[in-house]
Amino acid sequence: MSFPPGFFDRSDPEPDEEFYASPRFVTHIDDRAIAAVSSLYEELGVPEGDVLDLMSSWVSHLPRPPRSLCALGMNAEELAANPMATSRVRQDLNQTQHLPFPDGSFDAVLCCVSVDYLTAPVEVFGEARRVLRASGVMVCTFSNRLFPTKAIRGWLYATDAERVRIVEDYFRHSGPWEGPASRTCLRPDGLGDPLYAVWARRPGRGLVDPALAPLTRSVPT
Ligand SMILES: C[S@@+](CC[C@H](N)C(=O)[O-])C[C@H]1O[C@@H](n2cnc3c(N)ncnc32)[C@H](O)[C@@H]1O
Repeated sequence: MSFPPGFFDRSDPEPDEEFYASPRFVTHIDDRAIAAVSSLYEELGVPEGDVLDLMSSWVSHLPRPPRSLCALGMNAEELAANPMATSRVRQDLNQTQHLPFPDGSFDAVLCCVSVDYLTAPVEVFGEARRVLRASGVMVCTFSNRLFPTKAIRGWLYATDAERVRIVEDYFRHSGPWEGPASRTCLRPDGLGDPLYAVWARRPGRGLVDPALAPLTRSVPT
């Protein structure tokens, strides 16, 4: 998939600072979807290491505190209230994609229900790859709820299955990565929020991730 002109446009082109000025102490997916995110993080070994949560708020959905957690997002009050965070960075990734960390700083980079707001996602994924250690994992999870004025046009007009392919392409354009692998964690069933995940690892020795070798895909139809 290539990204046609206008793909990353948004109906609200104003800087994100204003939109996220007031804290929102809410959850953006339901409890079942949050449990699916936590369970995937556990399966991928995320809590064992140093973690960067991109586009973070007051919750990071980890099943238990990791060795360290840097929460990076737009709202300082939300970040301050994140109980697992051991450090916090306020940064607008649509203004500055460079991440303020040395190469190889983290074992996992997370982005939960937020990738649709990135206007330069390939650059952000490339930075995530840079700050990961060898075999470190980037995990991107998303559902079908969003702030429509802040989501990119390409995402708004895509089906859930196409959104999985969009995120896979963000990895492909920012690699090399091991993967990506994708999974429908919760199908749309009328009972609650669906949940999709796409993840990949920075190439390195000692990779043991059954979902990436051989590469598997389970995407919505
Ligand atoms: C739908 S909320 C999700 C928050 C959290 N990841 C979660 O799982 O509940 C979207 C988050 O993306 C962050 N965000 C939106 N635009 C951003 C930007 N340009 N740069 C960095 N973070 C951004 C906001 O601070 C907000 O917390």
